[in-house]
Amino acid sequence: MKLTSKERGARIASTDLLIVFAIKGKKLELPEGVELPAAAKKDFTGAFRSTRLCDPKSGSASRVLLVGLGDTKSLDAEALRRGAAIAVKDAEKLGFATPLAYVSEDVEKAVGGAFAAGCALGEGLVMGAYQFTELKSEKFTAKVKGVQCAGGGVEFKKGLRQGHVLAEANCFARDLQNRPGNYMKPTDFTKHARAIAKKGARLSVTVLGEKQMAALGMGSLLSVSRGSSEEAQLVHMVYKPKKKASRRVCILGKGLTFDSGGISLKPGAKMDEMKFDMSGGAAVMGVFHALSSLDVNAEVHCVVVASENMPAHNATKPGDIVTAMNGKTIEVINTDAEGRLILADGLCYASKKIKPDTIIDLATLTGAVVIALGHEISGMFPNTVKLGKDLAQAGENTGERLWELPLLEEHKTQLKGTYGDLRNINSGQGAGSSAGAAFLSHFVGEGIDWCHLDIAGTAWGSECRDYRGGQTGTGVGVRLLVDYLQNL
Ligand code: BES
Ligand code: ZN
Ligand code: ZN
Repeated sequence: MKLTSKERGARIASTDLLIVFAIKGKKLELPEGVELPAAAKKDFTGAFRSTRLCDPKSGSASRVLLVGLGDTKSLDAEALRRGAAIAVKDAEKLGFATPLAYVSEDVEKAVGGAFAAGCALGEGLVMGAYQFTELKSEKFTAKVKGVQCAGGGVEFKKGLRQGHVLAEANCFARDLQNRPGNYMKPTDFTKHARAIAKKGARLSVTVLGEKQMAALGMGSLLSVSRGSSEEAQLVHMVYKPKKKASRRVCILGKGLTFDSGGISLKPGAKMDEMKFDMSGGAAVMGVFHALSSLDVNAEVHCVVVASENMPAHNATKPGDIVTAMNGKTIEVINTDAEGRLILADGLCYASKKIKPDTIIDLATLTGAVVIALGHEISGMFPNTVKLGKDLAQAGENTGERLWELPLLEEHKTQLKGTYGDLRNINSGQGAGSSAGAAFLSHFVGEGIDWCHLDIAGTAWGSECRDYRGGQTGTGVGVRLLVDYLQNL
C-alpha cells in the first residue's frame, strides 16, 4: 500500500473517502473547506472504535468516515493504530481506492506528538489492511491502493515513514508465519535472508547447513532435524550501522517450520498450528527486513536456527544423549522439547562466534506460557534488571507487552541429568516456562546480557486488536525489537 504525507493546513485534494479521527468530548476538527450536515454529527460521540460514514455538505471529499478514538485521557498511539486499522478495513470493504486520512492537532498532541501520530497511523493502516490470500486459488487484489495522510509537518512525515517500514516488516513476518510447513521450510529462511541482504550494502548473510553445523559440534540442534528430510539451517544476518557501533546485539529466533513433537508425537488436535513454531525466526527476519530500510546505532546480528521436528526411523529417541557446541551432554527425555535443543546451539554459536554484548532470543517455547499468561502478553526472562526494563518499555511503546517470569537457580539444578550433564525437561516440578528458560541459560556465554522471550501465546491466536488478531500469525516481536534497538 502506498502512503503519502500531506500538510494538514493545506486544502485537501479530492478523495473518494475522507477519514477523520474524532476525540470523545472534543469538537470535531475537519479539514479546510469540509462541512458536514448537522445530522451527520448528531449522536456521534467519538467513542473508541465507533464509526460513521456520512456525506459532506461541501468540500472535495465524496464521502466522510468518522472514526472515534475515545477520550483524551485514554488516547494513545495504540488507540490511533487501532482507529487507523478500523478505517482502512472499512475502506477496503466499501471499495474506496484512495482515501485521505486526516489527523488533527489535538489527536497528534494526545498520542505524544506528530512523529508518534504519523508512526501509529502508518502502522495501523498497513497492518490493518493485511490479509493472507496467496494460497487461495482466486487472485486477491486490494481495493485500497494508497492512503494520503494529512498531519503536521516534517515530524509527521518521518513518523509515517517509520510506521510504514515497521508495518511492512510485521506483515512480512506474518506471511512467513501463515505459510504452512510445505510452503515454509528451513531453507526458505535462507532464501528470504539473501533477498533482503541484497537491498543494502551494510547488510550481509552467512548460512550454515548441516555439514558446517556438524563441524562446529552442534549435536543438539542436529538431533532435532535428524528425522526430517528438510535440511536444518542456521541463518546469520548482519546489520552494520553507519558509524562504528558501541554495542553489538544478537537476536536469535526459533525457526521450527513444523513441530510434530518427533517420537514424543503430539496429539492430533491443533497439531496444524505447529506450523507457527517458527514465529521467533519470523520475528527475527522481520527485524532484518526493517533494518534494510531504517537505521539504528547498534551492530545487529539476526540469527535464525531453522529445523523441522519429525518422527522417523532415524529420528532422535527419548533417552538419546546428544552433545551441544559447548561440550555439554543432554539427555533428550522428550523429543517435543526441541526448541531448547536448537536454541542451545544457537546460543553457543552467538556467544562464541559473534561475542555480542546482548542476546535476546524469541521462541514459541512452551505451552505452559499460554497457561500462565494467555495470548496478549509474552513471557520474558531477563538476566539483568536493565535489559528487562528496556524491553518492558519497548513493549509498552509498541503494544507488544511483556511480563517477567522467574528463572531461579533451582530451576537450573532441576535439569541436571542422570546419564548426561543435563536433561531437556524437568520431571513433575511444574514451572514449564521457567524450566525452558533455565535450560537455555546453560548455553549463554559468561558475561553476556541475555533475555529469553517466550512468545508461544502471543505469536498467533490473540484477541482482535483491529490491526492484528484472530487465529493467524501476529508478527509479534518485530516492532518490539526495532523499538528496543532504536532506543539503545
Ligand atoms: N512448540 C512447542 C510449544 C508450544 C505449545 C507452543 C503449544 C505453542 C503452543 C514446544 O516445542 C513444545 O512442544 N514444548 C513442550 C515442552 C514439554 C515437552 C516440556 C510443551 O510445552 O508441551
Ligand atoms: Zn515441541
Ligand atoms: Zn516447538
